[in-house]
Amino acid sequence: MTFVVNESCIRCKIMDCVDVCPVDCFYEGENMLVIHPDECIDCGVCVPECPVDAIQPDTEPGLEKWLSLNAEYAKIWPNITVKKAPPPDSKEWEGKPDKLPYFSPNPGAGD
Ligand code: SF4
Ligand code: F3S
Repeated sequence: MTFVVNESCIRCKIMDCVDVCPVDCFYEGENMLVIHPDECIDCGVCVPECPVDAIQPDTEPGLEKWLSLNAEYAKIWPNITVKKAPPPDSKEWEGKPDKLPYFSPNPGAGD
């Protein structure tokens, strides 16, 4: 198994998660992060760090498309290991449903 970042992260991108990951397996897109499923050691430490509950184990039902998205973009986005400032409008996107249309495939800046 692995942990995956789901749609709650889109445009919130709070980044508290990256500071605690012992294996630095978060990768940065323009408006969300993903976890590399082959690098995650399933420790679960990042889960309570995310204020919008965007990190779940892939054993939860309905996460197949998010596991695919994490795996696909972790290969091409840059690694991020240190928290940066969230987007200025991050709070406005907390808890909004159906954010997939806002997903950006563009990479973030990374560390
Ligand atoms: Fe990193 Fe652990 Fe979270 Fe996996 S579960 S992304 S290893 S902190
Ligand atoms: Fe996203 Fe939550 Fe991390 S919003 S960037 S998964 S702290």
